[in-house]
Amino acid sequence: MVGLEGRAVTITALGTALPDREVTNDELSRSLDTTDEWIRQRTGIGARRVAAPGVSASDLGILAARQAVDRARLPPEDIGLVITASISPDQLFPPTASRIAYEIGAVRAGACDLSAGCSGFVYALALASGMVGAGIHEHVVIVGAEVISSILDWRDRSTAVLFGDGAGAAVVAPATEGGGRILGFDLGSDGAGGPLLSVPAGGSRMPATHDTVDARQHYLKMNGREVYRFATRIIGDSATRVLEQCGRRIDEIDLFVPHQANMRIIEHAAGRLGIPRERVCTNLERYGNTSCASVPLCLDEASASGRLHEGDLVLLMGFGAGLTWGACLMEWGAAGPL
Ligand code: COA
Repeated sequence: MVGLEGRAVTITALGTALPDREVTNDELSRSLDTTDEWIRQRTGIGARRVAAPGVSASDLGILAARQAVDRARLPPEDIGLVITASISPDQLFPPTASRIAYEIGAVRAGACDLSAGCSGFVYALALASGMVGAGIHEHVVIVGAEVISSILDWRDRSTAVLFGDGAGAAVVAPATEGGGRILGFDLGSDGAGGPLLSVPAGGSRMPATHDTVDARQHYLKMNGREVYRFATRIIGDSATRVLEQCGRRIDEIDLFVPHQANMRIIEHAAGRLGIPRERVCTNLERYGNTSCASVPLCLDEASASGRLHEGDLVLLMGFGAGLTWGACLMEWGAAGPL
């Protein structure tokens, strides 16, 4: 559990980027043994965006970060730190964030990557909030950037249909009067579930060899059923903890922004918590599971469509590989993130 001390912190702007190319379920069913009906019924996904060959996570992250910084009217040289969360970073190292910082002109910023599965954006928000709250930095740019299509096994119908590419970014800064604020976090991890969702090879544990390539070990592997079970349990538990910590009630939540993994997971969790459907934000019908980008993509859409108002209570929720989870409770500002 993470409590917030120090000065109040908020998100002052959001930015997003999506590849142009949309791949529908019908298109997938031409190369995979699947159907639009199966994918919609089991996941709620209708289409996803897929980056063009050669486009990497940082390429999308740069666009999203630049938009967020422009919207915040923030001179890039005032950025203190860029944190990128991704399950499909450009490389093992250097950090994807270093290239993003360089390309957006954040010449005085530190840069680092964060690996926390699909919970990455909420983790990045927690780290950024802590740093800004403690006065270490005035402005931290956090970026969830994914080109998951590059690590998918396009022969595996049980995973290939689920994910999509995209990026979302936020500027985290000290809160101003009426500008909303972050109220608290609940972060957690259960490493016993690590093998349930991973890219097995390519790191120090299973270095790349001809055999690992032949055995398709450099692609995303998942035990869908177990991850499903974990997700439906942890969303309710973590949401309850962050609400308790902040002294708020579930019926006060105006918008629930869960990680977009599966519509059945979201509906089950929202039902268990008692959050009505109209207060739940989803975009996986159009984008699939965009991992670290899903929460900021949803939040930006909600903000742009006028769904959020001053003082609204917003619950963000991430969960995924690790296994990890992260909940964040925040109050929306007058203008909201631009
Ligand atoms: N099209 C058609 N059939 C498919 C399929 C596809 N794309 N993918 C799997 N199937 C088949 C399976 O082979 C299985 O067939 P069988 O009964 O003949 O063995 C059948 O559908 C049921 O498979 P199962 O894995 O039990 O389906 P499910 O209802 O659990 O749904 C997931 C599978 C992956 C959609 C679901 O488990 C899930 O969403 N899990 C969570 C995944 C997730 O969110 N991960 C990211 C977390 S960040």
